[in-house]
Amino acid sequence: MAFTKTIKNKELLNVYNDCVGELIETDIVQSMDKYIQHGDITCLDHCKNVSQRSFKVCKFLNLDYKSAARGALLHDFFLYDWHIPGSHVGLHGFRHSKISLKNAEKHFTLNNKEKDIISSHMWPLTLRPPKYKESFVVTMVDKFCSSNEIVSHMYKRYITTPFKSGQSRLKKTIRK
Ligand SMILES: [Fe+2]
Ligand SMILES: [Fe+2]
Repeated sequence: MAFTKTIKNKELLNVYNDCVGELIETDIVQSMDKYIQHGDITCLDHCKNVSQRSFKVCKFLNLDYKSAARGALLHDFFLYDWHIPGSHVGLHGFRHSKISLKNAEKHFTLNNKEKDIISSHMWPLTLRPPKYKESFVVTMVDKFCSSNEIVSHMYKRYITTPFKSGQSRLKKTIRK
């Protein structure tokens, strides 16, 4: 599963792009495309999924959708492939929110809400609860997107692809 365009409405997409444009157009944010997050989805696509969905939920709930979109886009800004041994120190699940915040603060100016979104997104695993409603939305949307991405990948790997290759093998056998 790659990035799925959550925002179909053109006007809404323009509002979203205005919120994240300053971040998403930079080489450093685009470099997240080099690292795999779940299954076959890159960190960039995962962060875009979480960012667009969080933006929509926060807009619907009349919350600060700009901070939600920006914080969510940088929530997994840890900049390494966590599947590769030696790419990071300590347990990735517990440490990457702090690393992402450190990287984000190094490259961008963030408000307190955006900082909280990044540092609390692994709650309850990291025991640091979200301080703002927007952070709570992002942590929930992140869990939803992660599960969705993992299930889609498993489905493609163990059901769709073997079925398709089985079908093509069967076709070849019939042709013989
Ligand atoms: Fe994360
Ligand atoms: Fe995430």
